[in-house]
Amino acid sequence: MSIIWNKENSTITLQTKNTSYQMKADSQGVLLHTYYGSRIEDTDMSYLICSIDRGFSGNPYEMGKTRRQYSLDVLPQEYSCFGTGDYRASALRVRNADGSQASELRFTSADIRKGKYTLEGLPAVYADKTEAETLTVCLRDPYTGLEAELQYGVLEELDVITRAVRIINHGNAPVVIQKAASVCLDWQFGAFDWLTFQGRHAMERNLQRTAVGHGIQSVGSVRGTSSHQYNPFSILCEKTATETSGGCYGFSYLYSCEFLMEVEKDQAGQTRFLCGIHPDDFAWTLEPGESFQTPEVLMAYSGEGLGRLSRIMHQTIREHICRGEWQHKRRPVLINNWEATYFNFTGEKLISIAKEAASLGIELFVMDDGWFGKRDDDNTGLGDWYPNEQKLGCTLQELSEQVEALGMKFGIWFEPEAISEDSGLYRQHPEWAVQIPGRKPCLSRNQLMLDISRTEVQDYIIACMSRVLSEASISYVKWDLNRSMCDKFSSALDARHQGEFGHRFVLGLYRILDTLAQRFPHVLFEGCSGGGGRFDAGMLYYTPQIWCSDNTDAINRLDIQYGTSFGYPVSAVGSHVSAVPNHQTGRKTPLSTRACVAMSGTFGYELDITDMNDMEKDEVRQQIKMFQSFYDLTQYGDYYRLTDNKGSCTVWEHADPDGKEALVNAVFHGIEANPEPVHIHVQGLKEQELYKIELLDTGDFLESRIDRWFRESDILSGAALKYAGLTIPPAWREYQAFQIYIKRLERQK
Ligand code: DGJ
Repeated sequence: MSIIWNKENSTITLQTKNTSYQMKADSQGVLLHTYYGSRIEDTDMSYLICSIDRGFSGNPYEMGKTRRQYSLDVLPQEYSCFGTGDYRASALRVRNADGSQASELRFTSADIRKGKYTLEGLPAVYADKTEAETLTVCLRDPYTGLEAELQYGVLEELDVITRAVRIINHGNAPVVIQKAASVCLDWQFGAFDWLTFQGRHAMERNLQRTAVGHGIQSVGSVRGTSSHQYNPFSILCEKTATETSGGCYGFSYLYSCEFLMEVEKDQAGQTRFLCGIHPDDFAWTLEPGESFQTPEVLMAYSGEGLGRLSRIMHQTIREHICRGEWQHKRRPVLINNWEATYFNFTGEKLISIAKEAASLGIELFVMDDGWFGKRDDDNTGLGDWYPNEQKLGCTLQELSEQVEALGMKFGIWFEPEAISEDSGLYRQHPEWAVQIPGRKPCLSRNQLMLDISRTEVQDYIIACMSRVLSEASISYVKWDLNRSMCDKFSSALDARHQGEFGHRFVLGLYRILDTLAQRFPHVLFEGCSGGGGRFDAGMLYYTPQIWCSDNTDAINRLDIQYGTSFGYPVSAVGSHVSAVPNHQTGRKTPLSTRACVAMSGTFGYELDITDMNDMEKDEVRQQIKMFQSFYDLTQYGDYYRLTDNKGSCTVWEHADPDGKEALVNAVFHGIEANPEPVHIHVQGLKEQELYKIELLDTGDFLESRIDRWFRESDILSGAALKYAGLTIPPAWREYQAFQIYIKRLERQK
């Protein structure tokens, strides 16, 4: 039993294999948060709460006369409210019918059941009945009848807890929800660092580690997507936490729209974390009897550092968020024509790329932007999802058949949520574009967004895409979105309900994705928003992989993929080998380095392969074989960051969970003569077992600049590799990569 309700002391404890989480309804019915951390058995953790009268921190009426120490302003709470004496950032803020913004929530009941709750129309962690339990705690405002149903899912074996909240209006007047976080978490003690993942288009998810100081720090998005700028995943950890030690809390928001994550250190040095829909452009009216469901947050605690926390996130996303046929099915090595041709292609050119690709072992050909309507640049055509047969020189079906005849699968690009003013769709339905009547809209990439908060627009997209997916043989869809949203307005909503637009938009997106995924279960969907502008756990519920960044430069990708790895598994990270000089940076890197980096993702190519010489083609052939032989290890293995990205070399590792084998990858991004050694400690092996070490020939042929590295006879124990470690060969050319394969020796019988 992972959820224990002790009615004697009014505590409810969520137990996972290695962690405990506890709340307690106090004498006033306030639901206090008493503990989250390493597992503790059978203890009422409220002994930790030692309140003093903090002056100017008021008291609930019943307590004010007798216990001035009792203040909502300092007590650790499960779900904090605005306007009734807690001056910290709050989880819930509503506007009542009388115009006041006050609410206070008191415990009324709790319920425990087997299995994990689901959320209608929203992504959520899933688990079967034996793997999870659900706790529902009801809190109610005695004055207005507003209820918050706190939902907790506990996946005991995985050390995972999920949280979401349903707000129900049991009163007899409408209430406007202005802010409803999915999680509120308070710590009375501790000095924390906050790890967030910031960036920009083509440079997403760079790790930023800052000390939590007094005041409120936040990251979020008001862009209509989760955004390139701040990712909806963050970590709070002890100041001293490293990859292998220290307490760390991870929060991944299963939401692909506007979000806000806040951390506040209060007057007493206490820390509060909040995560929910961004309140700036949100207002949801609840009529009597109506309810609102917040999205879900996935939380985990690791007492053993950031590496373990990441591996919990990876496993949860792979096994309990990604769904469908492609969750575990081996995904194809693909080639995408975007960086090879951009908009400038014909059917013949595409087939020439496909032919060459097939001969090298590539399994899927993806036709990117430009195949439909009138679309020879990014100014026109979005919304007109009809193949441009003149450009292709044939029908879509014929093109897909030609690709399949080469022994490859065929895939296609869409940008379903966007519309060009210069398109048949816009001329027919200008009211379907997101814009505010009487105001000129802000253009981005010369396009507008489609108002998919409207059911008829959702149905239109579903119908168009279904037609295309049925008229040709299509095995893969790249689902792109190339602008941030503004001018938020739906002509289908009245003024009172405009604040619902953003959330209704993403509910529409989820409905379209869900319908198509069910209708076309064999199609592999890859998410994309100008690369990684919507790289979040919510999207991964519908698309098991996401194009990680429009930046294909292997060296910049080290940063992007390093940051991404904190919250997301390799199997989610779309990553391709592209041409040199790189189109985003102009940098030249060896082909072997580009492949080494792309192999720690879904792996594919995005270049004009017909331009390659025979030596390069041979190398590509080898790379594909190598990727395929390491598929399980890289896609499902345990991921270890062995260095950070600050030195001259970035090293990371994939290890088989049973310690049978490991692949260590090292890429040099700074090169010096006579360098200091790059030394790492291999993780995830069995200490008592013996391993053979092999420096792989990645095509970047090993020259004899080094006296000795790993010899045939180099057999080392897991303990030696972990504690004494391994030195990476020094680089002798710029941006050199090494891959070191470590295999366990079978014991002699
Ligand atoms: C942005 C994507 O990230 C690119 O890979 C490409 O598909 C373009 N859009 C096409 O417009």
